[in-house]
Amino acid sequence: MQQFVIRPEEPDDWWEVEALYDLCFAPGREALSSYRLRDDVPPVSGLSLVARDGQGILAGAIRFWPVHVGDHDALLLGPVAVHPTHQGEGLGGFLIHQGLEAGREIGWQRAMLVGDAPYYTRFGFTRLSGVEMPPPTNPDRVLGAELSPGEWLNVRGEVTRWTR
Ligand SMILES: CC(C)(COP(=O)(O)OP(=O)(O)OC[C@H]1O[C@@H](n2cnc3c(N)ncnc32)[C@H](O)[C@@H]1OP(=O)(O)O)[C@@H](O)C(=O)NCCC(=O)NCCS
Repeated sequence: MQQFVIRPEEPDDWWEVEALYDLCFAPGREALSSYRLRDDVPPVSGLSLVARDGQGILAGAIRFWPVHVGDHDALLLGPVAVHPTHQGEGLGGFLIHQGLEAGREIGWQRAMLVGDAPYYTRFGFTRLSGVEMPPPTNPDRVLGAELSPGEWLNVRGEVTRWTR
């Protein structure tokens, strides 16, 4: 990762990160049900990261939101995206590892996301059963990772917008 400068996202980065997400995801990404969990809720402070290349151009970004799962709390990972010119260089994996580790350090016990299992299993994500995202969400894409052992055991229920 030596060719990238990685630091926490600042307010001034917001629209540049949005533009990167628009580039990397299909049009209408904000219609996805996961975005309803982000409406009017700020991302978790300090966990969102931006990576810039040697010219200062945004190469990748990751954000995390807090959510409730039944009576428990979880980190909702994403969006995460890497600019097409830098995909496959390990940056996405680095941002995910860094973000999860930082989440663990500040006391989060579990993380979840809606995404491609073939990519996210390498970070310890497995399919969550009994965890219901707002519809329409393919349950096969609802994945969770424990930030300390056993923290998804017996965690069930609807994923809802953060209210604290
Ligand atoms: C997904 C994404 C963040 C990965 O970042 P990256 O920096 O390219 O990934 P890395 O370099 O860390 O890892 C590359 C590996 O992941 C694999 N991979 C990437 N996306 C994948 C996917 N959707 N499903 C399965 N494998 C995937 C690559 O094939 C490659 O495999 P290899 O290690 O066996 O060669 C990036 O490709 C991206 O922004 N994609 C478009 C937006 C997106 O889909 N975001 C994730 C939402 S689910």
